[in-house]
Amino acid sequence: MASLEVDMSGINEGDSVTVKWRGKPVFIRHRTDAEIAEANGVALSELRDPQTDAERVVDPKYLVVVGVCTHLGCVPIAGAGEYNGWFCPCHGSHYDISGRIRKGPAPTNLEVPEYRFLGDGKAIIG
Ligand code: FES
Repeated sequence: MASLEVDMSGINEGDSVTVKWRGKPVFIRHRTDAEIAEANGVALSELRDPQTDAERVVDPKYLVVVGVCTHLGCVPIAGAGEYNGWFCPCHGSHYDISGRIRKGPAPTNLEVPEYRFLGDGKAIIG
């Protein structure tokens, strides 16, 4: 299966980009320290699909998730919704800054694809 190389160093802190991998959108967000703190400040008991932020990232500065809503597959919108993450306009699912489902009909968190950093500001997804 195809892998995708992404230059993470080109994404400014606080920005999100969307890349295409295996025909699907993948969201990459260079998170701020405040966003990382917010993601870590959520109690697992508040989560429908309990996962710590640390379980969802390789480097906390970068969140990498498949941009497909886990309800019925629409593409959520960045920087929208009630939890400072993504909002799916199809039926109103709200995801937080760790891509975890917080409100709405989606059953699970946004999927984290397999990826690794290459050490020169680049990452390989897949
Ligand atoms: Fe996203 Fe239904 S497809 S809320």
